[in-house]
Amino acid sequence: MTPPTETRPESAWTAPAPATAEALAAHGLELMRVPSPWETGDADPEAPFDHDRRWADAPAVRRHTAVLQRNFHEVGDPDFALADRFIGVEQGDRRRLSGVYPRQADPARTDPVGTLADFTKRLNMGGGRLLPAWCITEVTVSPTHRRRGILRAMMSESLRRARTAGVPIALLTATEATLYRRFGFGVSTYHRSVWLDATRGLQLRGGRPEGSFRFVEPTASAELIDGLWRRAFEAQAGSVERIRFHAARETDRDPRVDGGRPQGLRAVVSTGPDGVDRGVAVYRVDGSTAELIAEDPVTATVVSLWAADAEAYRALLEFLGNLDLVVRLRLPAVANDRLLEFLVLDESRIYTRGVHHHLWHRILDVAACFEARPYLHEGAVTVTVEDALGHAAGTWEIAASGGVGRVTPAPPEAAELTLDVADLGSVLLGGVKAEMMRAAGILTEHRPGAAADLDTLLRQPRPPYSLTGF
Ligand SMILES: CC(C)(COP(=O)(O)OP(=O)(O)OC[C@H]1O[C@@H](n2cnc3c(N)ncnc32)[C@H](O)[C@@H]1OP(=O)(O)O)[C@@H](O)C(=O)NCCC(=O)NCCS
Repeated sequence: MTPPTETRPESAWTAPAPATAEALAAHGLELMRVPSPWETGDADPEAPFDHDRRWADAPAVRRHTAVLQRNFHEVGDPDFALADRFIGVEQGDRRRLSGVYPRQADPARTDPVGTLADFTKRLNMGGGRLLPAWCITEVTVSPTHRRRGILRAMMSESLRRARTAGVPIALLTATEATLYRRFGFGVSTYHRSVWLDATRGLQLRGGRPEGSFRFVEPTASAELIDGLWRRAFEAQAGSVERIRFHAARETDRDPRVDGGRPQGLRAVVSTGPDGVDRGVAVYRVDGSTAELIAEDPVTATVVSLWAADAEAYRALLEFLGNLDLVVRLRLPAVANDRLLEFLVLDESRIYTRGVHHHLWHRILDVAACFEARPYLHEGAVTVTVEDALGHAAGTWEIAASGGVGRVTPAPPEAAELTLDVADLGSVLLGGVKAEMMRAAGILTEHRPGAAADLDTLLRQPRPPYSLTGF
């Protein structure tokens, strides 16, 4: 579908706001852009990645990448070999790098003390509607420079660039959940890490899935896997498009492992009774076959599972759950919707290892976001949105009729509830409930029942779920 807002994300650099520049200058620092090879014309972002390519002619990008790895405590990379593999892969995302440096430093010769990257992907809003989304990642501050406002400077500038570029929503995934609410991000999707006991094979409820399977070699199947990924993505409300790193992983060329060489992953394709490919699972098997006494029983771990429809998912789950010799099936990030409990005959064989927050939404343009999603219900709720950074602040009537949303500015006295922009981001796709926030005392109702009415208006058939993260 055509994006509702015209976006100009590829030329998105703007100089920092004067207040940000001054705050950094007080610490002898400045925010700089670090142009990537795809921006300088030295890399074709559409070309397949090449793990052998070195990037000595992009020294600032190399340093940015290596410092990020250090801040996340990855192993040392003295000759930039790991950094170079990441740089090659990430050109496909059209990443835009920025960093904080000592004032007037040369980024080609000086390590940044803060790193951030942003890029634009699409977010599935439901009903096959796709919205441009500003993805923020690689956020680190050197341990030598904590608590000097570097995170605040980089984050608020990235969001400002997003707004200037006309992108209506920003996304991130977080390793620490306390950091990003202050910048207006709220959790939208959760996922669940599951182990399935496959000791005697896994029986499903419902009839046996029809169709057939075939193995393919992941290193030679990039196009096939990518096509099936796209169909799965377009069917999954709440999902963001995947980054090139995941495409590298599922074709068994993980830049982090063994110099990016293949590790022997398996890939199985499910074909429907009509002869059309409908899903693929990439997985690895490890562990010891002495199942009862082994510390590490034979385990199949799913790297990715892309199913174009529900039948494809069922078929691949049954295939993976019935691999001979395998006693445990690990699904690291399934939807937290309890679908598995309906699929698997004996639900006591499902072990939930954890439920984690996944995609965080930061609404920048209230109307563009709420008008981009589909609606099952009719109605209207007027909300006052508080936004410390200003982007989404105001009072808005969110209305839906005939499946179509309409957002109009409203006078403050019309507000039926007041909430922070982070919480508005959480409820946008219906996965998180305003009623729960009311019960927790983090939003204010001016009309009793307004939070529950907002939930009814925003309900989707299933909770949003992202197939992938970044
Ligand atoms: C977390 C990190 C990015 C903070 O950077 P920083 O430059 O010290 O942060 P700032 O000085 O700009 O602080 C910004 C705000 O966040 C708060 N904050 C900073 N670190 C925090 C933390 N670990 N937990 C909670 N709040 C934190 C500050 O109090 C400040 O609040 P305020 O502006 O509302 O007063 C940095 O410590 C880091 O790089 N950590 C390792 C990598 C990492 O965890 N990255 C995040 C991945 S999701």
